[in-house]
Amino acid sequence: MPEASSDRVTADVVVIGGGLIGAASAWRLAVAGLDVAVVVGEPGAGASRVAAGMLAPVSETTFTEEALLALNLASMRRYPEFVAEVSQASGLPSGFRPGPTISVAYNADDAARLGVLADYLSRLGLESQRLTSREARGVEPLLAPTIRGGLLVPGDASCDNRVLLDALAVAGDRAGVRTVPGFVHHVVTAADRVTGVVLADGSPITAGAVVLANGAWAGQITGIPPVPVRPIKGQILRLDPGRFPQPGVVVRAFTRGTEVYLVPRDGGRELVVGATVEELGFDHRVTAGGVYELLRDARLAVPMSSEYVLAETSVGYRPGTPDNAPVLGHGGMDGLVLATGHYRNGVLLTPVTADIVAEVVLHDRVPAVAEPFGLARFVRSLQIGVASELKETHT
Ligand code: GLY
Repeated sequence: MPEASSDRVTADVVVIGGGLIGAASAWRLAVAGLDVAVVVGEPGAGASRVAAGMLAPVSETTFTEEALLALNLASMRRYPEFVAEVSQASGLPSGFRPGPTISVAYNADDAARLGVLADYLSRLGLESQRLTSREARGVEPLLAPTIRGGLLVPGDASCDNRVLLDALAVAGDRAGVRTVPGFVHHVVTAADRVTGVVLADGSPITAGAVVLANGAWAGQITGIPPVPVRPIKGQILRLDPGRFPQPGVVVRAFTRGTEVYLVPRDGGRELVVGATVEELGFDHRVTAGGVYELLRDARLAVPMSSEYVLAETSVGYRPGTPDNAPVLGHGGMDGLVLATGHYRNGVLLTPVTADIVAEVVLHDRVPAVAEPFGLARFVRSLQIGVASELKETHT
């Protein structure tokens, strides 16, 4: 336990975490007139700078996750207005790039899988269009001639997450958000209500509300009910196309049973290729195998990508939860607000999460869109799990 320091900071709200979710929430709260302090540990260490910035609620739809799909679509609908506001408030570009996204298949099995996805999307009433190989290459001429067809999703877009994060930092700064460097050690409570946080160096920050927005590290804060978030490692690459052409649209590819995505940036300056999904905890190693597989699969979909320069390799940690959906709303004690567990959808869910946080902090109200994502769902499933285990043991 750190020793207390006498340098006391006070704020209406402390936001733990300066990634996209924390920065957007802090900005919204400051614009609403609150005095907001954001505690930022290691700038750039979180998923917000590492991610590719795909906004793919439809292309990344996963079977049985319809509740999450509804939240993802709600956030996607807010994106154009959200980025316009961020740009206006910061005077900076937002990094938003409208769709479409194209998904393609490499072999017959991959094509069958794409077909199953297309049928599922159509049953859900989501807009997508099956394409022959020739049609897919009409949309994106850099696709390999050997691909077995594609699926066009007009609404799925992308946003350069680094550009957006920089713009949000300036917008927050202009609205009066204070950045406090450091790591939160624990949340302080009195009579079941939060009264602030203490940093690892012992400095306290007194506040009436605390927003937990530190992604994969959310489970490490003590003094609060446990939040079931674990880090899910992703290795990701940034390629520099140089003088070579790069895809004009986001390309997702099923390649021999694995998945890869290629996300181009405006002006042809960067192609982001991602990402591995690894249950390895906070393992920061970029591995030869991880890089090899991403480059191999990118090349199968877009052969031209082999000509690009490998400009950056990085590792990020997705904040995963037991059901892959975020944890939003009340945190089990007065004044504690949860905004974490966004897993594969952090960039996409930034606008809706910031609105939810603002609603909970300002009006003590959980909006309907956030209701399925409370912490209580895990408490319930834990109780059911324990109860059935006990029953099995005693019968
Ligand atoms: N949504 C992309 C990823 O998590 O890799």
